[in-house]
Amino acid sequence: MAKIILTGDRPTGRLHVGHYVGSLRRRVELQNSGDYDEIYIMIADAQALTDNADNPEKVRQNIIEVALDYLSCGLDPSKSTLFIQSQVPQLTELTFYYMNLVTVARLQRNPTVKSEIQLRDFHNSIPVGFFTYPISQAADITAFDATTVPVGEDQEPMLEQAKEIVRRFNYVYGDTLVEPQILLPENKYCMRLPGTDGKAKMSKSLNNCIYLSDSSEEVRKKIMGMFTDPNHLRVDDPGQVEGNPVFIYLEAFATDEHFQKFLPEYENLQALKDHYTRGGLGDVKVKKFLYAVMEDVLTPIRERRKEYEKDIPAILEILKQGSIKAEAKAAATLNRVKQSMRINYFDDQDYLDEQAKKFTE
Ligand code: TRP
Repeated sequence: MAKIILTGDRPTGRLHVGHYVGSLRRRVELQNSGDYDEIYIMIADAQALTDNADNPEKVRQNIIEVALDYLSCGLDPSKSTLFIQSQVPQLTELTFYYMNLVTVARLQRNPTVKSEIQLRDFHNSIPVGFFTYPISQAADITAFDATTVPVGEDQEPMLEQAKEIVRRFNYVYGDTLVEPQILLPENKYCMRLPGTDGKAKMSKSLNNCIYLSDSSEEVRKKIMGMFTDPNHLRVDDPGQVEGNPVFIYLEAFATDEHFQKFLPEYENLQALKDHYTRGGLGDVKVKKFLYAVMEDVLTPIRERRKEYEKDIPAILEILKQGSIKAEAKAAATLNRVKQSMRINYFDDQDYLDEQAKKFTE
């Protein structure tokens, strides 16, 4: 069976370093591994509209930002198909049929939907489109016959629900859809990178994100202002590394090579952590190292972005061509689905004959 990747992001803002360690870095590795037959990366504008119906302009403006972030991280349109969700109408049609296979109660139990409803203060005014977006996400995944979906941990309930829909569809209508597997980040620090203030969620409104497109100076300011262990007041005090955002970022970003390059007096992160825990290691020194590491990662991304920004029409053309290719793939799946459901009336000669005959007997 072909190995196919599908994943994507909502275009509600520029992508940040949490997206990078949570999924983007891995996507680029998978792309370059040559192990996959097809790779689809989707800008999920239709999903973004499920809770931004009154602000389509935000979604509209962020499509190019996300595309620039993708390309500057190393996604390569000659290897990965980059496309815009709303330009593939087959996805909404699939969603409509899948809706009949899911109960309201099941959607209400979806932990991600539950927590997002709370987060957004929807109370009793949950938009139906928002409530049902897990079904549309199942359509996104299955339309491309995806076997592998690299996403963050928060998307686990979506994948569970998608698998259930696949099983139910295949049970009711016969083997048609491919069951996807989730691919989570390699370590727990990458699963959910905290904000620079230590809060669990990185969010634009909290102003606690480091964006892939931030300038070197912005990154420096944000890192030097990061929260650390609040009880580590003097350099000599023993410090705590667990839950300390600076160390969490190092866990997600720093390699042994970074130590050789920027802080050779420590062999690796463990040695640095040991010293911090013992006492005698100041926050400023650790932050300066983190800044060096982040710059090492972000500089090439920033430079590629500058190049791509010079030719925006070319990027829009990449998205257009990608969307055409994605639509062809989704159309083939939709045909298969309709065939399995036996609602492909005009392509089904048996049906046409049988109906005609019914009234002649
Ligand atoms: N829900 C994802 C997010 O919040 C975006 C997304 C939409 C997605 N459809 C998908 C991810 C399908 C993986 C597969 O970023």
